[in-house]
Formats: sequence, C-alpha cells, structure tokens
Amino acid sequence: MAATLPSLMDDDPGYSKAFQAFLDSSTEHQSVKTFVEGPLRGILGRIGKGKPTLNVIGVGSGSGEMDLEIIRQIQLRHPKAKVDNEVVEPSSDMLVKYKDLVSKTSGLDHVTFTWNNMKTTEFEKTWKERNPKKKMDFIHMIQMLYYLEDPGAAVLFFRSLLRKNGKLLIILDTGDGGFAGLWDAYGAHFGKRQLNQGITVENMKNFLDARGITYQSYKIPAYVDITKCFIPGDEKGQHVLDLLTEVKEFSKTAPPELREAVMTKLRSPDCSQEVDGRILFNSTTEALVVDPSPRTHHPCCSVS
Ligand SMILES: C[S@@+](CC[C@H](N)C(=O)[O-])C[C@H]1O[C@@H](n2cnc3c(N)ncnc32)[C@H](O)[C@@H]1O
Repeated sequence: MAATLPSLMDDDPGYSKAFQAFLDSSTEHQSVKTFVEGPLRGILGRIGKGKPTLNVIGVGSGSGEMDLEIIRQIQLRHPKAKVDNEVVEPSSDMLVKYKDLVSKTSGLDHVTFTWNNMKTTEFEKTWKERNPKKKMDFIHMIQMLYYLEDPGAAVLFFRSLLRKNGKLLIILDTGDGGFAGLWDAYGAHFGKRQLNQGITVENMKNFLDARGITYQSYKIPAYVDITKCFIPGDEKGQHVLDLLTEVKEFSKTAPPELREAVMTKLRSPDCSQEVDGRILFNSTTEALVVDPSPRTHHPCCSVS
C-alpha cells in the first residue's frame, strides 16, 4: 500500500468543508454542548470568582460554535464580569466563519475577541513577548491536539498560563472508539504529517499521570452517521471520509486496496454499529478538566 497521500490539512478550504460535513452528520457538537451545560457549568462557576474580567483562550477553535457555548455559560455564571477571549486558530477559513457567527450572535457586548490567526507554537512565542505576566481563568483545547507536533508541550505551556483557580479543558477521542479502531489499523498509511492524529484521551491521561498533574474526566458519547461514505460519488459522504482519514479526496487518491480495506474497517464493530440501516461510527470523546500547577502562595507576589 502506497504511503504518501495528500494531507487534508494542507488544503484550508478543503479541511473546512470536510469538517463541516463531519459536523452535519455527527452528534459531536450537540454532545459537547450537553457537557458544557451539564458538568462544565458548575466548574465554570468556580473559576475567576469576583474578578471583573475573566480571561479565556480557545485553542484550535474552528468556527467557534463550542467557544460561544462556553462563553455563554461563563456569562450566565458570572453576569457582572467581562470576558477577554483570545482565539488561536491557524485556518483563515475557520476564522472567517467564527467572526461571522460572532456577528450574528446577540449578548456578546461584554466580550472582547482577539484573533490569533496562527498555530499554537507561534502563539506561544508571541504570547511570551506580548503578555509575559497575564494569567488565564479558562483555556480549552477541543478536538485539536491531534494536529500538533508536540501535544504534551502545548498542554504544559497552556496549563502554565492558568490562574490558581483556573482550568484547562482538553477533549480527545477515546481509545476504544471508531477513530482509534481506524487509525490503529491504517493511520500509518494516511499521511506522514499527522504525527499525532492517533492520540487518544488515554495517551493524554498517561502523560498527565506521569507528571502528577490532576484532572477530572467526563465521557461524552457521540456518533457520526457515515452511511453516505458508502454511496459512490456522494459529495458529503466523501468529505466525511476525508475528515476521518485526514486525506484529501481519499476516494480518489488512496490506492484501491487501501480504500477497500478502510471501507471494510469503517463498517466493522471496531468502528461502527448498524442501526436501522444506518452505519453509525463511534466518535465518543472524553473531556479532561485539568487543574493548574499548585503555586506557593505568598501575599507579596501572588500572580493569580
Ligand atoms: C477538529 S477541529 C476542532 C474545532 C473546534 N475546537 C470544535 O470542536 O469545533 C481542529 C481545529 O484545530 C485547528 N488546528 C490545526 N492545527 C493547529 C495548530 N497547530 N494550532 C492550533 N490549532 C490548530 C484546525 O484548524 C481546526 O480548526
């Protein structure tokens, strides 16, 4: 099986289209929203208590739907506070959609948005020059660590920015879901650049546990209806397939034997179950709500 396939991430509008097709066929955003309105609500109520401004960073925010859900909950829990929201997103296409969503959403008068059209590595550099002392109340990295060369380093950097009651939210696929089933079997064939595409929440827990970093975890059940992926020429189905494999135009660019093997795997119990004639890919994720570093509290020089 040939190894070098075109990466979806190299095609900004293509990625954006594929992600939208994925969201349209998936319960992922609804499931994350339920988590934000459920367990995360109480957690957001305890960050930044009494502060006039809550500082937030969205990392890999995409088109901003989940960011605005989180901001809405923060505003409900802290009605008198302003929100200073930094967005880190390298895709210009995604940022255009995010800004459009902001312009159509009411109730954001007390929120300021700073748009960082860049990758996390560049953000880290500019942040250190721009804001060496600024501390954050809430930082989220939702379904984005797969795209980083060094996810662990990014997690440690963003965690280091938290105030003492701050929290870092990480959401990743579980190790027993469809993505792990697919990527464990064929990830090596999908492309050379997505070094961490196969990362799961279990890998991240091991990383945090090894460093004695504490967190709470919450399962977020979700599925993607991939029935259309099996209809030859169905445009939406092909976009979803591109997103699942992170390969640009997978149906056209993958060698036939890889394509066949992937399609068989996708409908196998390792990835999916069939319900009423629909093929439902298990895209369950898990949220880790990571605690900040314990700081020695000294009245003269507390940074929180
Ligand atoms: C699967 S999408 C998730 C978007 C959003 N968090 C959500 O859940 O709807 C992953 C996002 O990570 C962004 N991304 C990719 N590489 C990145 C990097 N190096 N630094 C920051 N974000 C990145 C992508 O552009 C994309 O918007």
